[in-house]
Amino acid sequence: MEQLRINPAKDTTADIDVTDIPELPDDVFIAPLEKPKDLGDDWLEPQQRVYTAEEHHIWDDLFAQQMEILPGRACSAFMAGLERLDLGRGGVPDFGAMSEELKSITGWEVVPVPMLIPDHVFFWHLANRRFPAGNFIRTRETFHYIQEPDVFHDVFGHVPLLTDPVFADYMAAYGRAGWKALKHNRLKALSALYWYTVEFGLILEEDGMRSYGAGILSGPTEAVFAVEAESPNRIHLDVDRVVRTDYTISDLQPTYFVIESFAELFHMTVERDFNDLYGRLGAGFTYANQAVLDVDRVYHIGTQEYAQRGGRGSGAQPV
Ligand SMILES: [Fe+2]
Repeated sequence: MEQLRINPAKDTTADIDVTDIPELPDDVFIAPLEKPKDLGDDWLEPQQRVYTAEEHHIWDDLFAQQMEILPGRACSAFMAGLERLDLGRGGVPDFGAMSEELKSITGWEVVPVPMLIPDHVFFWHLANRRFPAGNFIRTRETFHYIQEPDVFHDVFGHVPLLTDPVFADYMAAYGRAGWKALKHNRLKALSALYWYTVEFGLILEEDGMRSYGAGILSGPTEAVFAVEAESPNRIHLDVDRVVRTDYTISDLQPTYFVIESFAELFHMTVERDFNDLYGRLGAGFTYANQAVLDVDRVYHIGTQEYAQRGGRGSGAQPV
């Protein structure tokens, strides 16, 4: 099913003009981020950082750690993308060479940014098939957990799936969808969709549940927890439900949402009238991140034992 191309005529975001960075309406609040003085409105670094030998080693060690864990847990498109882009060739990949290869496959490129960038600038880059990747890499001290996305999370976690034609189209459409979310002041809702798909999504493959979310695939603990632990809920993705669901940013997820294919994800989102959906949405989230609803199509009701024992920092086992 993933091999199918999506019908552009059904894309509800297709007519959005993405030439310029979208205006930030007065009533829209985004997290205040201070742009380094030497950067333009696009927040792009003039070039990729020159990494030290130790920083390249950190990449290699993170890569080796994930490759012990991901086979059989990461989705097949991710594993194929890793191989196709040869991200394990040694050291932090060169964005230029990687982008050349990626462009020839799905038209995407990877561009360096210093840190998290504002939502509206992020949308603009995605809509133009540019994936902004954090330039810096974590240190040995933060090897096991880093909250701000670094080059390992961004490149290892996100870039392989950009080789998948349907997922690549979904990401660009997500960027275009940002214009609508800004217009309706519903960034939170759109962010929840990103969170539960691009960062923490699961996909049902023929031989079992696999991860495709970059937040899962770029760390060893959640790569196992997401697909094997008893604690978290695993629920079929329903867009109306997900955009109303709160999410956890600093710990393992209490709930994961599952798709059957990237084509299904595309049909449920890009071919959907979000103007109408936003019109019916309240400003905040309706559902707690541990909730299981009567209408949910449930694959697994979690015990929530990990969260109940105190989660990250408490010594609770991710079971
Ligand atoms: Fe990410």
